[in-house]
Amino acid sequence: MRLHVANHPLIDHKLSVLRDETTPSAVFRQLVDELVTLLAYEATRDVRTEEVEIKTPITTTTCRRLAEPRPIVVPILRAGLGMLEGMTRLLPTAEVGFLGMRRDDDTLEIETYANRLPDDLDGRQVFVIDPMLATGHTLVAAIEYLLDRGASDVTALCLIAAPEGLKALEEAVGDRANVTVVTAAEDDHLNERSYIVPGLGDAGDRLYGIVD
Ligand code: URA
Repeated sequence: MRLHVANHPLIDHKLSVLRDETTPSAVFRQLVDELVTLLAYEATRDVRTEEVEIKTPITTTTCRRLAEPRPIVVPILRAGLGMLEGMTRLLPTAEVGFLGMRRDDDTLEIETYANRLPDDLDGRQVFVIDPMLATGHTLVAAIEYLLDRGASDVTALCLIAAPEGLKALEEAVGDRANVTVVTAAEDDHLNERSYIVPGLGDAGDRLYGIVD
């Protein structure tokens, strides 16, 4: 597994506002969108391209375009939805699938409650979006699901990652597959309720208000 912590003053600034508990939902959503676009720029560095002949108004030239099969963007519901628009703005031709996974607050077990993905992901590049990599249970389950269906490489975009989650992911996938995590920050640790410290609280609640 590869880890890329994006390092940029604009990312630091946006993250500081995102972490602030007084930041209202509307501003929070806007900042998530902006941060995703910056992370997506890093995360798509190895997206596959192919040569095409283009006729400009002046001459004919060879350029590069996103290759087929198209990459797939998979938000983990519900908080990952808040990152979808920022991601598809940069990758407008990508296909979009959905995985609904949630953590049971008592058992901390992951359950899949929705799945809208092609059955066969053979050779596809997949971008999983989920704002918080906490215990890693959700992301491990999602990535194993995608690799089992043939995805050739998976890049996870997370706004904040905890060391515990990164370790869990490393132990689960190791060198078995081409998995990359791109994040804006690696935080300190998880608290006793598996929230990231310092973190930003519950990303889903802050994006959408509290809905159970
Ligand atoms: N999910 C969140 O939304 N926040 C955390 O800190 C951990 C998991």
